[in-house]
Amino acid sequence: MEAVILIDVLRRAGAEVTVASVEPQLEIEAAAGTKLVADTSISACSAELFDLVALPGGMPGSARLRDCEVLRGITSKQADEERLYGAICAAPAVTLLPWGLLRSQKEADHMPPCIHGQAPHLLGSFVDQLFGETVAKEVAEILLMDTSDDDCRKEELNPTEWSFEHNARVLLPVANGSEEIEVFTIVEILRRANVEVVVASVEKSVQILGSQGTRIVADKFIGDAARFDYDLIVLPGGRAGSDRLQKSKVLKKLLQEQGEGGRIYGAVCSSLSVLRELCRLQDKRATAHPRVGNKLMNDMVNDANIVIDGRLITCYGLSTVMDFALAIVTKFFGHGRARSVAEGLVLEYPRTWREREREREREREREIMLGTLKFKP
Ligand SMILES: *[C@@H]1O[C@H](CO)[C@@H](O)[C@H](O)[C@H]1NC(C)=O
Repeated sequence: MEAVILIDVLRRAGAEVTVASVEPQLEIEAAAGTKLVADTSISACSAELFDLVALPGGMPGSARLRDCEVLRGITSKQADEERLYGAICAAPAVTLLPWGLLRSQKEADHMPPCIHGQAPHLLGSFVDQLFGETVAKEVAEILLMDTSDDDCRKEELNPTEWSFEHNARVLLPVANGSEEIEVFTIVEILRRANVEVVVASVEKSVQILGSQGTRIVADKFIGDAARFDYDLIVLPGGRAGSDRLQKSKVLKKLLQEQGEGGRIYGAVCSSLSVLRELCRLQDKRATAHPRVGNKLMNDMVNDANIVIDGRLITCYGLSTVMDFALAIVTKFFGHGRARSVAEGLVLEYPRTWREREREREREREREIMLGTLKFKP
């Protein structure tokens, strides 16, 4: 998630981002088993000059980065020549410290323990460093972060129990142009909650190209995935991706069967249009960013990040997709499991007002230390 969010945010800001693999091959498996394809191998990067070298966290990923001599050389040169380098989550302690690129253990301890919870905000500070405050603000607006400053506004209408037989099984269809942050966030959070997730490509290749250029390798083709039943089918957003999902005949049939079988389906932001086309949504209420939602349905729930209407779950957009995935976990397994998954992400869920105030204080201190306060409204 960190790598994908970072790549996405920097590309939106206009940076040219090279994703380099330190493995012998370009295809790498991320923390929750999601596969992505790097642009190039690290050895092809050693002669190039970069404005920023950024290391994502995650274990054992950070240790794999640490053990790569070529990357160590590149990062050390970056430091010697006083260009930017950055690290997230486990990477400062596991990677930079043994390389001698952090001044002390104390400095490592003062790094945020993990960036997940406020990932877009802290990642925004990379944009801020490279491009300045104005671009950082613009990118924050695109990521809809202006909406994420208060409670997770979740609304449930016509409450229905979401049941499943053995394991909860979820299908996540993807297409070229699907929003990669949404794909990675949903997969990672659901898999952490022990949900079986199948990522299925509606394209002619299992490899798809996310909206910001990340290449994701799906588990299956949609045709192969269609042989099974799923407790939930959830569509990621991204406008171009949604248009392509809508053209899939297999997906259309799957969604119709899902509706007829009384099973659950959901959508993030622009893919609500796919559900509206392919399923019967009369009398259903939903949420999506106004840019998308107002054109689609008259009966949108305004001001909600997540709306659950019986067997339909919808999400406002990119900035609330983490809460969306946690809401799915809550519906399947209850609050306890959602909380423990959220705690694994260092994200209190949901937080009481007082806890949130305390968290904000701590965050503010960290930000002052990291020099990123100006980024946050
Ligand atoms: C979709 O993306 C994949 C992976 O980058 C690419 O090989 C394929 O040609 C793309 N398909 C279309 C129809 O653009």
